Amino acid sequence: MCGIVGYIGTRNATPIILEGLKRLEYRGYDSAGLAVLQPDGSIGVRREAGKIVALIEKVQAAPVNGSVGIGHTRWATHGPPCERNAHPHLGPAGDVAVVHNGIIENYRALREELEAEGHRFASDTDTEVVVHLVEGYLAGGASLEDAVRRALSQVKGANAFVFLSRRHPDRIIAVRLGNAGGLTVGLGEGENFVASDIPAILDHTRRMVFLEDRQMAVVTREGVRVETLDGRPVPLRPHTIPWDPVSAAKEPYRHFMQKEIYEQARSVTDTLRGRADFEAGRVRLEGLTLTPEEARRLERIVIVACGTSAYAGLVGKFLLEALARIPVEVDYGSEFRYRDPLLNDRTAVLAITQSGETVDTLAAMEEARRKGARLWSIVNVIGSQAHRIADGHILMHAGPEIGVASTKAFTASLVDLYLLGCYLGELRGVLTGEELRRRVDDLARLPDLVGRVLQHGDEYTQLAQIYYDREHFLYLGRGINYPVALEGALKLKEISYIHAEGYPAGEMKHGPIALIDERMPVVAIAVRDTVYDKMISQIEQVKARGGRVIALATEGDTEIGLKADHVLTVPPTPPLLAPVVNVIPMQLLAYHLAVRRGCDVDQPRNLAKSVTVE
Ligand code: AGP
Repeated sequence: MCGIVGYIGTRNATPIILEGLKRLEYRGYDSAGLAVLQPDGSIGVRREAGKIVALIEKVQAAPVNGSVGIGHTRWATHGPPCERNAHPHLGPAGDVAVVHNGIIENYRALREELEAEGHRFASDTDTEVVVHLVEGYLAGGASLEDAVRRALSQVKGANAFVFLSRRHPDRIIAVRLGNAGGLTVGLGEGENFVASDIPAILDHTRRMVFLEDRQMAVVTREGVRVETLDGRPVPLRPHTIPWDPVSAAKEPYRHFMQKEIYEQARSVTDTLRGRADFEAGRVRLEGLTLTPEEARRLERIVIVACGTSAYAGLVGKFLLEALARIPVEVDYGSEFRYRDPLLNDRTAVLAITQSGETVDTLAAMEEARRKGARLWSIVNVIGSQAHRIADGHILMHAGPEIGVASTKAFTASLVDLYLLGCYLGELRGVLTGEELRRRVDDLARLPDLVGRVLQHGDEYTQLAQIYYDREHFLYLGRGINYPVALEGALKLKEISYIHAEGYPAGEMKHGPIALIDERMPVVAIAVRDTVYDKMISQIEQVKARGGRVIALATEGDTEIGLKADHVLTVPPTPPLLAPVVNVIPMQLLAYHLAVRRGCDVDQPRNLAKSVTVE
């Protein structure tokens, strides 16, 4: 998944693009570049392998300035990350530059056709074929819009493109094909912007238009025109983004992930705001319209998601079955559509996705739509595909999540799932007045409980100092905390590159206990709940085999310290909300281990914030 920024206005495009790319670096950071229409009419291109800072240094050494430009930060799919394969790509005539996100599935056939006509290519990328096609149509007298239309009519796959041309210096063209990650048009005064994600242009405008599949935006200084690819006008529907620029900045924290971990008392409060009605003792969900009859008619809910969001879905099964008494299945977005799922209009398919652009989750949503299920989403990014195509949605209201490792979106998802459970429980008549009020009242203390976990000493830096050189970790949880063990393991492996596995504690005796030795720390979630005694016995089994145990316990538990090597504590929390609190020590442990190992916490190798390619 790559980052795209475009600008057309009266200011110098270069600093605006570079700052925007820095805000998008979490989307991919193998290489970066920009193309600017210069005063002499030529297109100036600067590109560099590596992170944005390398490109900034290159531009400082060899400035390029103008009031129209496009930029790109790349997560390599076709062609190794190097300057030659970095975007933007310029056509052979130097007339057109393009930046691209997605995969042109038929690029080899297109490239062979063009090479047979004598075209020579400068890169290994799929992207370059498009700019050769567009230049060809331009040379034949087509307008920039028509040249782009004709070129893209030959392209297969989910893609997003932004073009500029020295022959048409008064516009940039943005096109979205399928689910290749969003394209947002920012509306300014005498200037307009294009970006693959809101934070890139939030400093300049909060009025955004989101392109949908097979739509083209013609962006000029004076305004923006949106059309379908076959030329039909599309009315502009600007959204005003409630996020402020500060929320997309990192300071005063060292990493975005660190900031987003410590923001969770506030983000949980934001997620609750306007939904949990503590006066009336009930829940309101503005994005979900359901009558009691429709709620009672539902036979089951299927949750589809990927990665951390899938683990939130596993917690969601506990929440929705407990609160709404409705059967719940959970499936990976990348698996769902390949199992020919049995769905009907009595099934609700609930997609959980922070970015709203994860291609596997979107594909699962399309499968659900195709089979007639009711389609809901829990999503963070406003205007994203998953936000717009669902029949009903619950926004996370977590604010922009920049760190590649998801933290506050996970806890926001859990709160949304709890709210959904209460909402459905009341509609289905399974949560009575008093029971419902008690469930809603439990939410009132949640931000305070989260805040208490975040007020810790140096226990995490101490643990990181002891265990930073280990090669394997095992995370054990049971019941509603088993998904928390999975999430803890994922956090650790994706930012510290230590191999980690989350496991249902009861399964240890069926094989994995053979792994236990003094080299592999075991993180055991053993808070005071209905499976506490089982977890204590699990800890004893690990210790009996020489293992080292880091236990997560409830404050005041004096017994567990006699068994475990290290104890992290959380405050007593209502069982259905415990995962919101219990995951935070998992996040902090992973963060401090990664920092102690000198890893790039916000931009881990090989990863991207939103996976918009299959
Ligand atoms: C989580 O830390 C990872 N970055 C990854 O697993 C992520 O949760 C997954 O790609 C799903 O993203 P989404 O929530 O935006 O759909």
